[in-house]
Amino acid sequence: MERPSFRLVLLLVAGLIAGAQAKVHAASKCATTLTPAKPYPAPSVASGYVARLVATGLTSPRGIKFDSEDHLLVVEQTVGVTALTLNDAGQGCIIEKSRNTVITDNTLNHGIEISADGKTLFASSSANAYMWDYDAKKAMNTSDPKTIVNNMDNSDHATRTLLLSKKVPGMLMVTRGSTSNIDASSEKKSSGHSQIKAFDLNKLNGPYDFDNDGKLMGWGLRNDVGIAEEPLHGGIYSVENSVDQMSRDGVDIHNTNPAEELNFLGYLDGKSSPNEGANFGYPDCYTAWDVSTIPHFNGQPGEQFSIGMFNKNDSLKDDGCASRQAPRLPFHPHMAPLDILFNDEGSAAWITFHGSWDSDVPVGQ
Ligand SMILES: *[C@@H]1O[C@H](CO)[C@@H](O)[C@H](O)[C@H]1NC(C)=O
Ligand SMILES: *[C@@H]1O[C@H](CO)[C@@H](O)[C@H](O)[C@H]1NC(C)=O
Repeated sequence: MERPSFRLVLLLVAGLIAGAQAKVHAASKCATTLTPAKPYPAPSVASGYVARLVATGLTSPRGIKFDSEDHLLVVEQTVGVTALTLNDAGQGCIIEKSRNTVITDNTLNHGIEISADGKTLFASSSANAYMWDYDAKKAMNTSDPKTIVNNMDNSDHATRTLLLSKKVPGMLMVTRGSTSNIDASSEKKSSGHSQIKAFDLNKLNGPYDFDNDGKLMGWGLRNDVGIAEEPLHGGIYSVENSVDQMSRDGVDIHNTNPAEELNFLGYLDGKSSPNEGANFGYPDCYTAWDVSTIPHFNGQPGEQFSIGMFNKNDSLKDDGCASRQAPRLPFHPHMAPLDILFNDEGSAAWITFHGSWDSDVPVGQ
């Protein structure tokens, strides 16, 4: 379960900028610095990285993208899209110089993308994905919004992450989570819940309907907030927030199960993969982390087990989970991965973890 926070995205901004300047000496002093608001402590970073607060006074900033003129576009939940002009004084001394409002729309809540040519801006609400013509020199939209995908509104997991493929230009991937912790309706493919789909903008002719249109990349994905394309081969990966308060055969196992997930969803360019369009388990099957706490389970960590929504004895259904796609990598329960980003070489990926309320022992916070 994710709980968005002001702090997280600010750190993400700092982390990304730091990542691009990994050689900067961590102890360098900047002429102007911002101080994090109490009670948030300054982050600690690995050797070779530097983290700085670059902007404050944003309302639940959820997603960031650089435009082609190096404005940092920020989608602020219940506000819209804001462009920050940054001042780079070298040595990693990056700070906001000015800002302007790009889009005023209080329904925008998470997703943001910009086309490779820098001329189209994308953002999402719970219900819709939109695009605008965009002038990067002025950091302004130059058209009204056009709705690309609609019919996505649901309760609980309301963010719709957007990702444009670089390998297959014009394909826009959209992630949609479940309506509740355990959403029985997502057992049906036709519900459109807990799915990632790709929509072809080259063939756009009025809004796509999420439930009925698009290419299904994966389903049974509870809430995969982060999604990325591996740059060498074009593999699509997502990171999943799995369920809270889990019990099995009447035993509370939520502190150490189920695992959060890194999932592999195949490719967009026609390379075949058994993972493409697969069912990844939710809401019937979940990934084991600590097998010692799962009653009557004979599998290994990273394999899937069932919890009995429709069957009193959970362990009887484990065999059925063999037909579901297990994750590429399990993570500790409740680490709450929110984003994933590959380096240009495809040799590493960064994942941000938010941490969750649903853990007696803090994890990833
Ligand atoms: C920019 O988008 C906003 C909101 O989506 C819209 O109201 C406005 O008219 C657009 N600006 C231009 C120049 O079309
Ligand atoms: C559930 O079924 C398994 C496998 O047959 C059995 O070992 C276990 O005792 C059963 N659990 C309960 C709570 O009845």
